[in-house]
Amino acid sequence: MQKTDKESKAYSIVERRGLYYPAFDIYSGVGGFYDYGPIGLRIKRNVENVWRETFIDWLGALEIDTTTIVPEKVLIASGHVATFTDPISKCKKCGTSYRVDKLLEEFYESKKDTNSLIELKKLDKKGMEKKLLEHGITCEKCKGELSQIEDFHLMFKLQIGQEKENIGYLRPETAQGIFVDFKNLYKIYSLKLPTAIAQVGKAYRNEISPRQQLVRVREFTQMETEIFFDPEDAQDAFNSLETEQFLDAKVNFAPHDEKESVFSIRELLLKKYIPNKLFAMCIYAELKMLERLGLSNKEIYVFRQLQKEELPHYSNGNVDLEIKTSYGNLEVSGIAYRTNYDLSQHSKLSGKEITVLNNGKKVTPHVVEASIGLDRLLFSIIDNSVEEGKERGWEWLKLSNDIVPYKYAVFPLQNDEDLEKKANEVLSMLKKNKISAYMAKSGSIGKRYARADEIGVPFAITCDYETLKDNSVTIRNRDNTEQIRKKISELI
Ligand code: ATP
Ligand code: GLY
Repeated sequence: MQKTDKESKAYSIVERRGLYYPAFDIYSGVGGFYDYGPIGLRIKRNVENVWRETFIDWLGALEIDTTTIVPEKVLIASGHVATFTDPISKCKKCGTSYRVDKLLEEFYESKKDTNSLIELKKLDKKGMEKKLLEHGITCEKCKGELSQIEDFHLMFKLQIGQEKENIGYLRPETAQGIFVDFKNLYKIYSLKLPTAIAQVGKAYRNEISPRQQLVRVREFTQMETEIFFDPEDAQDAFNSLETEQFLDAKVNFAPHDEKESVFSIRELLLKKYIPNKLFAMCIYAELKMLERLGLSNKEIYVFRQLQKEELPHYSNGNVDLEIKTSYGNLEVSGIAYRTNYDLSQHSKLSGKEITVLNNGKKVTPHVVEASIGLDRLLFSIIDNSVEEGKERGWEWLKLSNDIVPYKYAVFPLQNDEDLEKKANEVLSMLKKNKISAYMAKSGSIGKRYARADEIGVPFAITCDYETLKDNSVTIRNRDNTEQIRKKISELI
């Protein structure tokens, strides 16, 4: 059985502080939809900005924003209309639906049966049905018998305009918008290969059993980067973008045929665990992100090489970034070598040539993609940041400074007009200097510290009667609860 929402480390702070919560709650909710509250949204935006500073500012990708409704033809070309399905089985007694691959995965995980987990990836519908029978797996709710497995389509279908035959879908990935726009962008911006194009936006999947808070939802945010290149240049393509020092960086990596261990990125290339330097660059960029998000400890993350049987229909090599959480290892990102599958397909179905000139020859560029799920990443960060706080008496979030919702909390020591005025002055000064801060006036100082700790605010400033005399304030450190005295002018 999978762990419930409440069994995750993140749950109590998330619920108490409304970081995110089930959508349409007053209507009893609809599975797989979550809204973000103000604090959760601040953290989410900061995580998105760390991605932006990595993939847009550092890697040099161009950021675009494409539509979320996509006409059917585009998704026929991409292969989603034909293949974007999950195997589903229903309880014959109570009607509960199950995603069968996940059901079997949980079963083998609970038995720590790694061989069967690997074999599972190779099974077709008939093979999975046999396994359900063999292991006596029945409905988790009522123990009823499970039906034959069928394919369940994961895209939300809709009608565009008044014509019934004008079918569209909510996009299942942001990537297709980038592929469709590629040729135009290449021309308008006079791009040269290799070139990277990225976007952040909503994606939609009609998941069979949404669960575990943000881990499996039906509407979520992806941050995707597509690097277009000529395969003949793939091994030196990055010379023009960056020195090669990044190849010496060390990552925790699980090859499909070897034990998880620390490798340099150069070794991953030499051992052919990854196909080229552009792929290597994506791994490095994600590692840089993890460092800034406080997740780069090798006990927390692993890059896992997928086996052939696990690859999506378009891929010629995939490495997933997994993060350890209360729910086990979560796939937070997939780096894929999509070859020129997507551009060739769009060229075929649109009838437009999608080639570019590189070194005097026409090529249909190949693509390496880094696809990151923002909501899963955010959940993983919160889940890994909860500190029990036994000594101080409350749980708190040890968030990295790059993503805290506020850098400072400002408190007047007590209900006093002069103290409040001073605290307001401090708050205005911080805001004027673009330093994020909020003020809290009510409750004891202890309670206010606890509230600030809970949402990961690293420093709390208290204005007291000394402040009125000498413009000094107390600054309390979230991590060690130590307090020091500083002049207000030293805060910025
Ligand atoms: P899973 O096997 O868990 O369904 P997937 O392999 O289908 O995931 P991808 O298609 O590789 O996932 O999607 C890219 C990224 O988008 C994932 O790494 C994940 O972070 C995010 N993602 C995919 N599906 C969901 C979902 N239902 N809810 C939240 N995030 C998701
Ligand atoms: N763009 C990769 C995915 O969503 O699966």
